[in-house]
Amino acid sequence: MMKRLIAFAALFVAILSKEAFHGHQVFRIVPKDGVQLSLIKLLEDIMELELDFWEWVTPVDVRVPSHSLQAVKNYLERHNIKYFTMIKDLQALLDEEQKQMRSAGRAGNTDSFDYTNYHTLSEIYSFQDMLVAEKPNLVSKIVIGESNEGRPLNVLKFSTGGSNRPAIWIDTGIHSREWVTLATGILFAKKIVTEYGQDPALTAILNKMDIFLEIVVNPDGYHYTHTNDRMWRKNRKPNLGSRCVGVDLNRNWNARFGGPGSSTNPCSNIYCGPRAHSEPEVASIVNFVRSHGNIKAFISIHSYSQMLLYPYGYTMTPAKDKAELHRVARKAVTDLASLYGTRYRYGSIITTIYQSSGGSIDWTYNQGIKYSYTFELRDTGHFGFILPANQIVPTANETWLALKVIMDHTFNNPY
Ligand SMILES: *[C@@H]1O[C@H](CO)[C@@H](O)[C@H](O)[C@H]1NC(C)=O
Ligand SMILES: [Zn+2]
Repeated sequence: MMKRLIAFAALFVAILSKEAFHGHQVFRIVPKDGVQLSLIKLLEDIMELELDFWEWVTPVDVRVPSHSLQAVKNYLERHNIKYFTMIKDLQALLDEEQKQMRSAGRAGNTDSFDYTNYHTLSEIYSFQDMLVAEKPNLVSKIVIGESNEGRPLNVLKFSTGGSNRPAIWIDTGIHSREWVTLATGILFAKKIVTEYGQDPALTAILNKMDIFLEIVVNPDGYHYTHTNDRMWRKNRKPNLGSRCVGVDLNRNWNARFGGPGSSTNPCSNIYCGPRAHSEPEVASIVNFVRSHGNIKAFISIHSYSQMLLYPYGYTMTPAKDKAELHRVARKAVTDLASLYGTRYRYGSIITTIYQSSGGSIDWTYNQGIKYSYTFELRDTGHFGFILPANQIVPTANETWLALKVIMDHTFNNPY
């Protein structure tokens, strides 16, 4: 009886502490010019509204809690700014997502693993271990550091031998609410081991190069999206002198750190942190890239908005390899679209999405990693971060084609 009572109490606490989004809506706001865009951005500073910007560009997507719906509508209408409701009932989508997750079967190996579902952090860890156990001659797990809360930062290394071979880096999940990126990373891992020896291009690549894949760049944040707040983006570092938690791990790199398109306010979702590389989740990658010294392509995967981007984010000055990066991007998005017709935009970060400072691929590019790219996966704003699980496999399959274009080009153009 006592045991049951405790279990019941624990469940009750779990339910109470999990952020609910009843009555929250996501607006898609379509400013007609820069003036309207700045009027929208002013809303971000009104803390009482508790707005959560999903996309800062035009169109601007914003999660609006129920208590702020009327105020935001009034404001937009007063300024004649066009908007519509993109998600009418966020909680309903989240309930559906949870229901779907609960239906997932447990897997004893990577063949029976449920790739059509989202997974918890521990399930992803166990997937990685199963893959290593099944293919020890091709995959190993290296721990490049520890997160703020002490979780291991695991990287899968795909290698057929050699030492310090030229390498390709791929990461997913730096922003924890971008669940489809981690689900896609899991599928990349499985595809690599399945296609090696089958697909001539990938086989040729792996015979000469290594691939490093960090599926969970932000484990603390990812865990938190499962236990507390599905919409969490940053890591979980307590900020000195602030009640707000977390640093945006894609604003923490030493590439015009703290500049435009990042924030020095710890409560902001794009808070850059106290100094460049202050976060262990970032510093571990920085140290790894530096000590490896032979990374030739660095591909960082986000969602959403269907874009393939290259440096720079912090400056309008074109990257010196812009023409080549652009050509490769065009081929990559063309191959991507060949599967299901999914359309991607492509270009430099600042001209295609928005100005942002302190981003990972600007740093890696400045370190001499020429083929530095960022993906923004599906969709373009129907479900946003709550992409239904039945889109995981198609998303991974089409993205894989684009990745192969970049990897192949890197392989064929040694530098
Ligand atoms: C995705 O690709 C795999 C091969 O890697 C294939 O077996 C599967 O049918 C594809 N799924 C879809 C929905 O296209
Ligand atoms: Zn992101």
